[in-house]
Order: sequence, then C-alpha cells, then structure tokens
Amino acid sequence: MKRQKIAAGNWKMHKTFEEGQGLAQEIRTMAATEVMPEAKLLIFPPYIHLQAIAKQLAGSGIGVGAQNINQNEQGAFTGEVSASMLKSIDIHYTLVGHSERRQYYNETNASCAAKIVTSIKHNIVPVYCIGETLAEREANAHFSIVEEQLSAMKGLSNEDAAKCILAYEPVWAIGTGVTASADQANEMHIHIRKCVANMFNDEIASGISILYGGSVKPDNAKSLFAMSDIDGALIGGAALASRDFIDIAKSF
Ligand code: 13P
Repeated sequence: MKRQKIAAGNWKMHKTFEEGQGLAQEIRTMAATEVMPEAKLLIFPPYIHLQAIAKQLAGSGIGVGAQNINQNEQGAFTGEVSASMLKSIDIHYTLVGHSERRQYYNETNASCAAKIVTSIKHNIVPVYCIGETLAEREANAHFSIVEEQLSAMKGLSNEDAAKCILAYEPVWAIGTGVTASADQANEMHIHIRKCVANMFNDEIASGISILYGGSVKPDNAKSLFAMSDIDGALIGGAALASRDFIDIAKSF
C-alpha cells in the first residue's frame, strides 16, 4: 500500500502573530512551486495563530493543526481548548502526546487515549507522538516503552485506527542536534508497524503513516526518507525557517 508522505512542522511556543503570518505565507508560496504534490505539508502553530493561518492557507492543500487538544467535550477546564472549538475554525489535525506535554504537563498514555478518541469523533486527525527517553534506550527498554505508548490506540475500531498518523520522536533526539541514525529510526518504525499489526491488522499497519521526529534538518532528511518505513518527519527547529522546512519537504 502506498502511504502518504508527510512533512509536518511543529512550531512549539515560537512566533508572534505577525511572524506566524509571515512564515505561513512564505511556506505557501514556496510549496506551490517547489514541493511535489504527493507530499502533504502540515503545520502546527500555537493556538493564537490557528484561525488566521487556517484562513490564510485555505485552498493551498497545506493542513493546519493544533499542538494539543482537550479530551472533554466542554466545561470548566481553564486554559484548555476543545475539539468542537477547533472544528469551528476549520482545524483538522492535532498533535497528541508530544513528549514535551508528557514531560511538563503530565500527559499519560491514558489521557492520550482519550484525546485520540475525542479527536477522531470530531473528524480531527490525531498525530500521536511516541518515543523513549535516553535512559529508557540505555536500559534497552525502548521497544517496550513505545509498545506501551501505542496501547493508547487499543480501544479504537479498525476504521478509526486507520485515521491516525504516528510520530516516533526519541526524546534524546529532540532539539539536541543528535538525530537517530536512519537505521535506528527505521528499526523502531518497523517495530511500531508490527505493534499496529498486532493490535489491528496488517492492512492498517502497512497503510499508517509513521513520521520520524528529532533534529530533522535539510541535510539528514533524504537519508531518513529513503528508509523503508519512514514516511515523513515531524520537524521542530527547522520548521521555523521556511527555506529549511521546504527543503526537508523536497527530500522525499
Ligand atoms: P526538533 O526538530 O527541534 O528536534 O524537534 C522535534 C520535535 O519535537 C517535533 O515535534
């Protein structure tokens, strides 16, 4: 099965409103002439940008997503944003379980499971982020940790599981300049696909896009994308510069 190739930019907590508009415009202009149509671009700006950038990029084919979503429908959850709010401003993607949210905001596999269910219920595609810490890798626990994180998808129907995108981001490679080698990343992607096959079936496992994240740059994207099971990237730092982001998207 041919899987979707995806270059996704996670802006994290960067860019003022005006800077965000500028970056989105540059990405739109460059993507129109430089990026092959089979590559899907996604950007995940901070909340304050979402409505404006979704409007700005309407019709471009570039998807816009939130960096987080609340699992509840509505209510007294100060500071949080719901799926129906996102839908009401035309947002169709969200990150779930980014390691920074697991580390600083107590996200667990259980809260991620609920967020995945809520997203899908509202037709928002969850990009579910998983990955081990350095200590977990050194203890040789990386495969089992990732398998445990994937269990957040367990309750989904086959049909809903097929709607998810996965992102493997080893925590030790995020923002550190240390990338997993293409072989290390691919080895984990193959493991992830096996876990998905065990939870659902082979067809879903071979159709689901698995992105790699962690210090992806224009100069290492090609070797990562050449691997059998790496379908794209979730990019942090390099997604803040339009030239770098587009150059990565051109590396498929
Ligand atoms: P960097 O590309 O800056 O390492 O960040 C990766 C990441 O966390 C994307 O979600």
